[in-house]
Amino acid sequence: MQFQWYPGHMTKAKRAMQEDLKLIDVIIELVDARVPLSSKNPDIDQMANGKSRIILMNKYDLADDARTNQWMDYYRQKGYFVTKVNSKKGTGVRAVQDIIQKACKEKIERDRKRGILNRPIRAMIVGIPNVGKSTFINSFAKKACTKTGNKPGVTKGKQWIRLNKNVELLDTPGILWPKFEDQSVGLRLAYIGSIKDELFNIYELSILLLDYLRENYPEAVPSYYQIEEAQDSVCQLELIAARRGCMKAGGAYDMDKAAKCLVDDFRAGKLGTVSLETP
Ligand code: G4P
Repeated sequence: MQFQWYPGHMTKAKRAMQEDLKLIDVIIELVDARVPLSSKNPDIDQMANGKSRIILMNKYDLADDARTNQWMDYYRQKGYFVTKVNSKKGTGVRAVQDIIQKACKEKIERDRKRGILNRPIRAMIVGIPNVGKSTFINSFAKKACTKTGNKPGVTKGKQWIRLNKNVELLDTPGILWPKFEDQSVGLRLAYIGSIKDELFNIYELSILLLDYLRENYPEAVPSYYQIEEAQDSVCQLELIAARRGCMKAGGAYDMDKAAKCLVDDFRAGKLGTVSLETP
């Protein structure tokens, strides 16, 4: 399956982000816990230039926990500070404040030696579309402020959300474009809904997703739809079509409709916790 991909208009956004990065101490990068590698844009590594780095495995409620833990170890070994969050529910969000302090320990120490005390740490959220940046910012601002009794304030000039006396967050997230030469990366981003549905064929996508699920999580589809395990993915999709009443006039299965149903159910986490990548 081929994707059309035009990241041209991102050049401007990237330049703006480079300017913002000069103002901050720590980059908080959100990835989707189901695809912690494919949802990470390597450009940020070049742009980061010695800043402290935090990775938040967002949407961990949708991912396979054992694999999420493997990924956390993997990134920790690479020098990142890592934690998992469910920004929608707010789980794990409060702990991010401590992670920020840990990630910026050296900077705080440096400041202290120079006699600069209590300068808030400045942070910026970055990530590809749909990983949950806005949801996280809202949740984080709320938690940080309830904890300290502060209200989020906006500092003059740049739009900073003053979370508490320790942390200021740039109020607009940095949007990174997903990047891939490898079609399989594009495919995984399509599964999680980070690439527009118009860019691929939903039927093909669903068959490839079924191939993956049948190999890695064989119980997921039969158990959610209450159907038999089929001999191949096309037959499995037919069983889903039958179960869901996806029929065309004349009685044939509406395979596109069944495909959409499967992909939507997967994205909503109805098939259980599933990870699409292993370190
Ligand atoms: P973005 O700014 O990075 O583009 O992402 P945004 O916050 O808009 O979040 C994209 C979608 O992901 C939203 O769903 C949001 O609710 C969901 N989301 C964010 N964090 C989490 C999480 O930790 N777990 C789960 N399960 N979902 C999360 P939506 O379908 O666009 O909106 P809605 O149905 O939630 O209203």
